[in-house]
Amino acid sequence: MSLTVNEIRSKFLNFMKEKGHVIVPSASLVPENDPTTLFTGSGMQPMLQYLLGQPHPLGTRIADSQKSFRSKDIEEVGDNRHTTFFEMLGNWSFGDYFKEEQITWMWEFLIDELKLDPQHFYVSCFIGKENLGVPRDTFSAELWQKLFSSKGIVAKISENPESGMNDGEKIFYFEEKKNWWSRSGVPANMPAGEPGGPDSEMFYDFDPMMEKKMHSISKYTNVPCHVNCDCGRFMEIGNNVFMQYKKTANGFEELPQMNVDFGGGVERIAAAVNNDSDMFNIDVFDEPKKTIERLSGKKYGESESVTYAYRVSLDHLRAATFLIGDGVMPGNKDQMYFVRRLIRRAVRFARNLGVKENFTKEVAVSFIETYRQEYNNLEEKKDNILIEIDREESKFRKTLENGIRQFEKLSHGNISGIDAFDLLQSYGFPIELTEELAKERNIEIDRSSFDEEKKKHSEESRTASAGKFKGGLGGDGEMEVKYHTATHLLHEALRQVLGDHVLQKGSNITPERLRFDFSHGEKMTDEQKARVEKIVNDVIAQNLPVTREEVSHAEARARGAIGVFDTKYGDTVSIYTVGETGTRGKEKMFSMEFCGGPHVISTGVLAVGGNHPDDSSQMDNHPDDNNQMDKRKVKFKIIKEEAVSAGVRRIKAVLE
Ligand code: ALA
Repeated sequence: MSLTVNEIRSKFLNFMKEKGHVIVPSASLVPENDPTTLFTGSGMQPMLQYLLGQPHPLGTRIADSQKSFRSKDIEEVGDNRHTTFFEMLGNWSFGDYFKEEQITWMWEFLIDELKLDPQHFYVSCFIGKENLGVPRDTFSAELWQKLFSSKGIVAKISENPESGMNDGEKIFYFEEKKNWWSRSGVPANMPAGEPGGPDSEMFYDFDPMMEKKMHSISKYTNVPCHVNCDCGRFMEIGNNVFMQYKKTANGFEELPQMNVDFGGGVERIAAAVNNDSDMFNIDVFDEPKKTIERLSGKKYGESESVTYAYRVSLDHLRAATFLIGDGVMPGNKDQMYFVRRLIRRAVRFARNLGVKENFTKEVAVSFIETYRQEYNNLEEKKDNILIEIDREESKFRKTLENGIRQFEKLSHGNISGIDAFDLLQSYGFPIELTEELAKERNIEIDRSSFDEEKKKHSEESRTASAGKFKGGLGGDGEMEVKYHTATHLLHEALRQVLGDHVLQKGSNITPERLRFDFSHGEKMTDEQKARVEKIVNDVIAQNLPVTREEVSHAEARARGAIGVFDTKYGDTVSIYTVGETGTRGKEKMFSMEFCGGPHVISTGVLAVGGNHPDDSSQMDNHPDDNNQMDKRKVKFKIIKEEAVSAGVRRIKAVLE
């Protein structure tokens, strides 16, 4: 059977409607009341408060198809399955049905309705963990077994899947690394107050006969294959989370209600239904592919590098189209920075297809056409989307041209590390692009001296005086970036003055002020406010470096970074440290938080008034900028402190 994404989406929603669910529209890609993450990355995010016990106005059974964006996956795109944007089909029980209904319905939907071959279908369940007080999920495993047997399949249960799969095994027990879900991953990483629970995942086997023999090649040689192996044989097509626990200071407690949180990528389900492991072969990419084919003269699939470039362009431009549709313009700050990055990467990779002139607009038109019925905001915002995407592309192409011209001047012989660094520094030319151009011309780049130069430079900028703004952020984003850093300082200062129970609950920044919501039960005294201001101003006066690091989620937690981040799909997170980097508790460290950035390069930048460095030399990265600041000293001041709701206070503060 072959089905389109639209058909699968509506089949799912109809199915859930028949099971008593109210269908709600997708929430925006930009979370409305969740400061812990920049984007909506799963269907459950907008449902958080209902999972915690607040009644949903439409009842206890809700389903939807949620637009989702996972910025962490940007660099993973290019293989057969990774995308930054996807639609997550979801259904929820808020203290209503539980495992029995959920698992039976999933079987009914996937096997009976979508007609997935049960021989290709596999599942996993939670093995149990005594010290968490969470037992083995035998209920789910045995129910799956019964369902398999209803189709004449004797499904064996494996307790040891990582050592390899044996004939007849269909149901696999895994530990919490694989079969536990919360927004912040495994139980150990969950902050107090966070809900989570064991889950049962469902997989599709694209190559049951192992005809492609993935494990006879390269990195998979001698590695046993199992459902969670990433060789490409299996794809996870959905996850049934039994959200039943809440993390507390001393372990776990049961939530007031037993919830179900199901999420499954519609694109992955479509790939399974079509029995084609290349997700970029599903119908929603058909028209955009034709557009790229027309503009490039290259065919998807004609070579590995062509396919890779197609996938990056398709994914990134679909994501950018939807993000702009939800009001996120390309820019330098927070969410906007990702839209810029997506467009610029798409243009860069399309160059590899020979696309040398503006093309993003035309691809965006194809995506709008493809999705307009489901997401009519795309149609409504069409003009705006096309203008923004095209403008960003033109801006970037200008930068590209300048950089290429400079490159030509340098490229009579091999390119030194210093020259390559200058291309990055002054022309915003990423090293990958310099390398690419060099390869085309058969010349070499001294990569190791480039790396050294870059390292030297970042050390220098850390100690640079506060009289220079080195954050590399352009135009009107600059004040917001300062307020963003000020928010981190305020957060830590509040924790020092009021206690560790203080956690960010919300944040909103304009060029004029910051607004910060945090957990705390009482009105702050004048003395407390004065102490907080003093701590922040002292840190500004010390001009401490602000350093971004990309580390594994586990390392970030182990080192004591605060904040919550959704990290199930992709292990790397970005953390920002103010002061010396390392583990929390280090004498010269002020704060360390999960954060997507951007931030100023050192806290002293907050003490001087803003100017507006031109950002036309910027590309994929944030090259530094040496523009002089005016020397007016400014101070951090709390201008308002008030209650927003029970246990949550709000501060408005300015740098003036
Ligand atoms: N919330 C679960 C997930 O994102 C369903 O995988």
